[in-house]
Amino acid sequence: MAISSPTPTLNLRAQIVGLDEPVPLLDGRQVPYVNLDNAASTPPLKAVMDALARFMPYYSSVHRGTGFKSRLSTEAYDRAHEIVAAFVGADPETNTVIFGKNTTEAINKLAYRLSLPPEAVVLTTQMEHHSNDLPWRQRAEVVHVAVTPEGRLDETDFDAKLAQYGERVALVTVTGASNVTGFLQPIHRLARKAHAAGVPILVDAAQMAPHRPVDMRPGDDPEHLDYIVLSAHKMYAPFGTGALIGPKTTFMQQPPEYTGGGTVDVVTLDEVHWAGMPDRDEAGSPNVAGAVALAVAAQTLLDVGMETIAAHEEELITYALERLQTVSGLKVYGETDPARAHEKVGVIPFNLEGISHFLLAAILGYEGGIGVRSGCFCAHPYVVHLLDLPEAKASTWREQLLAGDKSNMPGMVRASFGCYNNFDDVDRLVEMVERVARGDYHGDYRLDQATGEYLPAGYEEPLAAYFAL
Ligand SMILES: Cc1ncc(COP(=O)(O)O)c(C=O)c1O
Repeated sequence: MAISSPTPTLNLRAQIVGLDEPVPLLDGRQVPYVNLDNAASTPPLKAVMDALARFMPYYSSVHRGTGFKSRLSTEAYDRAHEIVAAFVGADPETNTVIFGKNTTEAINKLAYRLSLPPEAVVLTTQMEHHSNDLPWRQRAEVVHVAVTPEGRLDETDFDAKLAQYGERVALVTVTGASNVTGFLQPIHRLARKAHAAGVPILVDAAQMAPHRPVDMRPGDDPEHLDYIVLSAHKMYAPFGTGALIGPKTTFMQQPPEYTGGGTVDVVTLDEVHWAGMPDRDEAGSPNVAGAVALAVAAQTLLDVGMETIAAHEEELITYALERLQTVSGLKVYGETDPARAHEKVGVIPFNLEGISHFLLAAILGYEGGIGVRSGCFCAHPYVVHLLDLPEAKASTWREQLLAGDKSNMPGMVRASFGCYNNFDDVDRLVEMVERVARGDYHGDYRLDQATGEYLPAGYEEPLAAYFAL
């Protein structure tokens, strides 16, 4: 039975830059690009570009300049902190917003700034992005809570490990939404459990913040979130900013890990008096334009309404899961039931029987004008688990990979939605995957062993006709 696309309830396409930009295909035609790689980075909001265009004539150094433009820029930069605090429901009296490059940097910063005793355990999960796993491995014993075969958090294991490691647990750190399956975590319930054990919780909101409301809640709420990290480039503001939000007290106890200009109140040849928050933790000249961009994006998302965005994305996921199920030989990982679309953000990982994920992704790009991603998405343990790879097989490809050959690297293709995607985008994806399933593609794709990428032989991509430096 054919599945007809529903009428969209939200249309934000006019608010996003570059959506109808034609891109070249292998056969020489041009088609409007379908971006289904939003979990990696989103295109910019027009509101962000407009605000930057209005701001740039007044852009200047912040905090130490005395001229009008410095005062204006300082006001905008400080206000950006307040808007981001409001975006995540942080109490600005007790919390600080620290701007940095991205989520990865924010987590690394917290890993350095939390005082962790030598025996500390950081309790995380098997579904984390490497950025919420590796920074902790340098600083503590990291214990991974198991996930169920389809990739949901195994909360019984969470409870057991929290109890088992008892007072050694210094932090619980979980992703708000998985970048592989899109599964949303019960973050407030986990917060309640962590707090009952006297442990703070960090939520990696890189994937959650563009799709769902984030609410840290007041500090005396047992379900409050202690720390939040996020990235602007996943929130329609790709100008190099991320944020770490958390209690000022965490950072006021110690000097910052990066020291230098901007981090101090007084310096003598022998003494240093560190500044208050957030200056203490924003060493050097900050990315003022990036902060303004993030704040405008956060405000725009709030104005549209995060619940409205969530409802629209749920419709897209439902429709995509329904349609993808009709493609013969296609396997979706994680949640496959369209009726449970509300349990995840719009990230759908899949494989097509008999074809490498690298090749499928390449064909979608070169012959369909569709941007997706393939591989393990910086979440190797989770993807290996979802693929149900026997350890012997997994260790063989790890050895091959370490020897410089990625050709057998396991993985999946990931289609991920932003708030502006529509049912036509899903149709384009499904139709193209159907074509590939029928063998209806034309490029002579050759594998590059070192990267795992498939490139169409004899094709010179006309990149420079579109943009070049
Ligand atoms: C869940 C999650 N955490 C962390 C990150 C790292 O974000 P960034 O690359 O912006 O530092 C990502 C990026 O994909 C992510 O999806």
